[in-house]
Amino acid sequence: MKIDGSRGIFVGGASGMCRATATRFRAGGGEVAILDLETSDGAAVAEELGGRFFPCNVMDFDGMAGVIGEAVEHLAGMQFLVNTAGGAVAQRTVKRDGSRHSLDDFRRIIDLNLIGSFNINSIGAEHMAGNEPNENGERGVMLNTASIAAFEGQIGQVAYTAAKGAIAAMTLTMARDLGSLGIRCMAIAPSLFDTGLTAGIPEEGALQLTKDAAFPRRMGRPDEFAIMAISIFECAMMNGSTIRVDGGQRFAPR
Ligand SMILES: NC(=O)c1ccc[n+]([C@@H]2O[C@H](COP(=O)([O-])OP(=O)(O)OC[C@H]3O[C@@H](n4cnc5c(N)ncnc54)[C@H](O)[C@@H]3O)[C@@H](O)[C@H]2O)c1
Repeated sequence: MKIDGSRGIFVGGASGMCRATATRFRAGGGEVAILDLETSDGAAVAEELGGRFFPCNVMDFDGMAGVIGEAVEHLAGMQFLVNTAGGAVAQRTVKRDGSRHSLDDFRRIIDLNLIGSFNINSIGAEHMAGNEPNENGERGVMLNTASIAAFEGQIGQVAYTAAKGAIAAMTLTMARDLGSLGIRCMAIAPSLFDTGLTAGIPEEGALQLTKDAAFPRRMGRPDEFAIMAISIFECAMMNGSTIRVDGGQRFAPR
């Protein structure tokens, strides 16, 4: 897909990796809509990128169809749908005090990351199905955000792992579901990245959390996610996979 003249919807685009992706997409000649929480910097980011802000909450599952519909109408189409809205809770299956993981917390993390992503994807694909295909038969690209937590089994991340693992697992199935429509589906699994989500992690903690990387041993930069995201959009052979962007990071159990 060519960025120039394409339209992108960036869910979570007010900050971090999605913002960086929207910025690169805009620099390449694409039109952008930023979807994010009402309380976010979405309006300022959209203005900076010459786009429009659509406040939303991905956990308002019914409301998302309306918001995405408005954004598609405003842009007069959508070829790229990027979603980074998500988050974690730190809790063990059985906590140190002997009590078990809160089921409400587990369900909330599944809702936010997994159900939110699938809902956005199915709504987005419904719109993309109506696009005129390009000369290669492509109608659009959907990109979700997993995490290396999907594969690394970090202690205290059971809900997040379940959600991100499922995002990774559904990527190939969705790519196959949507292949006949010319819609691709991919996911990126980042290691620790320096974004709004991780702003509270002190430097010492970040060093500790990235020390098992091969190289570079540091937090990723949002633009490094964006570089991969844009490559995925541009390269028609990228489909059905979850790509680790992690400096070769692997965790040993501790
Ligand atoms: N930063 C990391 O180290 C890291 C590592 C692996 C995976 N991830 C994943 O990346 C995503 C976070 O992206 P980031 O790191 O750029 O963080 P970020 O906080 O900078 O950006 C995330 C954006 O999502 C928005 N958002 C959060 N909840 C939302 C909701 N319910 N509805 C709408 N928007 C919502 C936030 O307002 C924010 O603007 C999450 O899915 C997270 O699991 C992050």
